[in-house]
Amino acid sequence: MKIILLGYMGSGKSSVGKRLANKLKYSFIDLDSQIENKTEMSIAEIFQVKGEIWFRNYEKQALDELLERDEAMVISLGGGTPCYGTVMEELLLHPNNMTVYLKTDLDILTDRLWPEMESRPLISHLQTKESLKDFIRKHLFERFPYYSQAKLTVENNADMASTVEKIVSRLF
Ligand code: S3P
Repeated sequence: MKIILLGYMGSGKSSVGKRLANKLKYSFIDLDSQIENKTEMSIAEIFQVKGEIWFRNYEKQALDELLERDEAMVISLGGGTPCYGTVMEELLLHPNNMTVYLKTDLDILTDRLWPEMESRPLISHLQTKESLKDFIRKHLFERFPYYSQAKLTVENNADMASTVEKIVSRLF
């Protein structure tokens, strides 16, 4: 089985993914890190030099390569990965893919992303915390139709260990 974590930037996909993989003794892959390793560029550099469309095509290819591997793994997607092209449809097609949406409150996302905005190309232009919150609110509204198709939705607002427990108890 492949457990695929999706959710907005700052929802904890990588941290929860690592813990979950550790617990299940699955391998763990963070899609953004995979892309950074393969291209030898940071995500911010990729957006700046190659542009977002190039990035979206590349992330789809990188994900397809992972999904072809015959191996149990936990994969943390980028926040936008399931929201472009046919990615979500394809993820849902395969019975061995368990898609999990990590749902996090707007205020918590804003607090987590505010100190990290510079490294995140989609929000690095925002000037105030209030404008960041507005941006996230609208963006989440646009992306919710994709995220909400995940087979499982788990809240990740506070304690990551309990989020991992919730996922395990609902999957096995
Ligand atoms: C993006 C989220 C980022 C990264 C890129 C675009 C998005 O990943 O893929 O900056 O579109 O939401 P994280 O959600 O892991 O930060």
